[in-house]
Formats: sequence, C-alpha cells, structure tokens
Amino acid sequence: MKSDEILNVATKRGFFFPSGEIHGAKAGFWTYGHLGTVMKRKFEDLWRDYFLKLNDNYFEIDDVNILSEEVFKRSGHLKHFTDPLEEKGKVKQFNMMIDVNVGVTGDEKMYLRPETAQSPYIAFKREFMALRERLPLGLAIIGKAFRNEINPRQGLFRLREFTQAELQIFFDGENLDVNFNEIKNYKLKIMSKNIKCSTLKLPKFYIYHLAKIQQFYLEVLKIPIDKFRLREIKGKEKAFYNKIHYDFEFKMDSLGGWKEIGGLHYRTDYDTKNHGIGINYNGKKIFPHVLELSFGVDRNIWGLMDIFYKKEKNRSLFLFNKNITPVEVAVFPLVNKDKIPEKAKEVYDLIKNEFNVFYDSKGSIGKMYRRMDEVGCTAMLTIDHDSLKNNDVTLRDRDSMKQIRIKVSDLKEVLEKFFDGVELKKLGKLVR
Ligand code: GAP
Repeated sequence: MKSDEILNVATKRGFFFPSGEIHGAKAGFWTYGHLGTVMKRKFEDLWRDYFLKLNDNYFEIDDVNILSEEVFKRSGHLKHFTDPLEEKGKVKQFNMMIDVNVGVTGDEKMYLRPETAQSPYIAFKREFMALRERLPLGLAIIGKAFRNEINPRQGLFRLREFTQAELQIFFDGENLDVNFNEIKNYKLKIMSKNIKCSTLKLPKFYIYHLAKIQQFYLEVLKIPIDKFRLREIKGKEKAFYNKIHYDFEFKMDSLGGWKEIGGLHYRTDYDTKNHGIGINYNGKKIFPHVLELSFGVDRNIWGLMDIFYKKEKNRSLFLFNKNITPVEVAVFPLVNKDKIPEKAKEVYDLIKNEFNVFYDSKGSIGKMYRRMDEVGCTAMLTIDHDSLKNNDVTLRDRDSMKQIRIKVSDLKEVLEKFFDGVELKKLGKLVR
C-alpha cells in the first residue's frame, strides 16, 4: 500500500517517525527527523514569501501556545469545538481542546490553542496601533496547534499536535480592495470544473484569494492540476465561525482520494466582536472583518510526499522540486582511497553554502544513488580517479538517471542552470 511505502521511507530515512517511540509512542505525535525538518522549513518559507507579499501591510507575529480560558470562552471554542463521541451506545459531544493546569496550586486552568488564529485576534489592537492604523492588516502565524483528536491516524493527516500556517486579514467589512483584474480571466478548479473567476458569484476579495491559493499550489509547489481542487463547504460541515468556506484539497492515493489540506474562511466580524476589539477607523467605530487563509503544514508535507512519490522497477523516488526537496545535491567519493575522499570533500566545501548538500561515502555507489533517489535528492555528484586528473565530476540526474561530466570550476553555474530546468544534455556531454 502506498501509505505504508511512504511511511516506511519516512521513518527509515529521517523524514518523520513516531515521537518517543523508544518508550512507547502515543498516537498523533510525530518527530520530524533531519530531512522532514528541512522540508517543513522550506514549505514554511515558500508560504511566507508568497502570502506575506500579497500586501505591504501583512506581517508575521509569534505567540505562546498556552492561552487563558477567557480567550476560548470568547472565541466560542469552549462551547462549540466538539466532536461526537460514541460511548456505550450514546453519542456525547467531546471538547477537543487540551487543558493544562498552571500555577503552584495548579488550579488555574489554561488551554493549548487549537488553532493559531486566536493569537492574531488578541494581538490585533496593539499591532493595528503599531502599524499606523491601516487596514487591511494581515497578521500571520506559523506555529503549533493542539487538538485531542479522538482517532489520530493516517500518517501526518490527523495529529494531536501539529503546525498551522495561518494568515488573518483584518479589513473594513465594507471594503477589501484587491486587484481583481489580475485574476478575472483565471480559471479556478472547483471540484472537477475549471471556472473563470469573473463568472463566480462570490465577493471579489474572496475569489481573489482562492485564485492566489490555487496559484501557490500550481505555480510555486508545481502540483499537477489533476491532484488539486477547491471544494465549497456548506451547512453543518462548515465551522461555527465561517460565513463562506472553501477547502483546498489534494488527491492523495495513500489516503484513498481527495483530502483537505487547508481552507479559506470568511469569518466576518464574528471574532472581533466576541473579543471586543472595535476600532475607530475613517471616522467611525467598526469591528473589522476577518478573512482567514488556513493551511495545515503537516498535511501539506504528507501530501507533497504522496503526490511526488514514484515507484519504478528497481527503485522508489520522490520527484521533488528543488524548492521543496530536503537534499538538493549529494556528493560521493567513488572509492574511499587514493585521495578521492579528499577531493570529494573539496567539492562539498565548494558548494555547501549555495546548496543543501549531503555527503556520503558509506557503501557502493549504486546503493548511495538508490538511497538519495529514495529521499528525492535532485542532483548527485561523484568524484572518481579521473576527477583527480581532470578536475571534474559526474553529475547524475535523479529523474532520468543520465549523467554528464562537468568541470569543478563550472560546477556552481551548471547546478544553477540544472535546477532552473535546463536540459542535462545542454549542460555537458552525456556519459555512461
Ligand atoms: N483557524 C481555522 C482552523 O483551524 P481547521 O479547518 O480546523 O480551521 C485548518 O484547520 C487546517 O489545519 C486544516 O485544513 C488542516 O490542514 C489542519 N489540521 C486541522 N486539524 C488537524 C489535525 N488534527 N492534524 C493535522 N492537521 C490538522
């Protein structure tokens, strides 16, 4: 099964594994290993770069994970954040928040936040003042959220501690200006249909952000269009705070089909009214409306692994792009003698500041290639006896397994071009 295959590579190679497994792991808690940590950071950096640049008044903040009971009374989570739990034939509502006892007597009850969203709401007034009282104001958090999921399962899909990347856009409810012209002819993939933005019956600001989210997936993360879709969430499925809600989904074979990886939530003034954060703006008192872009980072990581996983006759590999792969370049000495490791180290040192490089000298070259294919490393460099004479290396392309010979002095430039998608045979002579 595909999910077992991905889990097997992930745990064996250092993407992620059950947290605390040497003492008996608890379901829903995972450790990111050395590869997963890089991949997660790359995803988060791409997200920051893309979404915070949508407006010059969008910023990132950070907050603690433990918040007071009052926050969740106000937010509605104490009352509404429940899942049905079946107990001896009866169905009871079970609150998914995890509480902690704080203080020496332990009688001050606080909660681990179940979404990052509340932090920007309670910080809003300070940031609004500090940022010269301009709207729209965007406050993003990439951070942990905690939920006492009844049934944590499916790899990284349903966790009890997970990372969200959320952007809260505060705006005057009557007006969130966007450059609609830029996307009016763009087609959104809603379920199986491609629908032109200008024909949709939704607020313009909402359509604009659906388009931006889709473009992030298709253009930045290079997700094939047949693996991505938007889906409207209506009625009882909709969260208690949302007026308009579309999820974005990946088709994940490992999890049996389409699965939610995030959502675009028009929360109206629900949160600002509940927290009592009215402001004076343009001569009137308003409670800003909130548009929330919410992404589950771990689900995205699992989704990328599912979508880019490929099984061939003699190997398995991840067809990751450079912007997401945990290892961009690998360097191998062909043998561990005759000054070849020294030359290989020299090559490693030459490129280690520009690229994400892994050095390996343990095992046969064939095995080292397979191991790097398996983790999605894009370019592999081998140093052999000829390298000592000619000051060159072999560059092997993960996807085609074809190889070219290149001079060490040209290495950085050739690698840049290779990662930009220039064909291998245009970069050097193909060798066997
Ligand atoms: N602030 C809005 C919010 O939290 P949500 O739909 O409950 O909305 C947003 O969660 C995203 O967080 C989901 O789309 C999903 O990607 C991720 N997420 C939610 N629960 C999760 C869990 N138990 N494990 C992993 N990711 C989760």
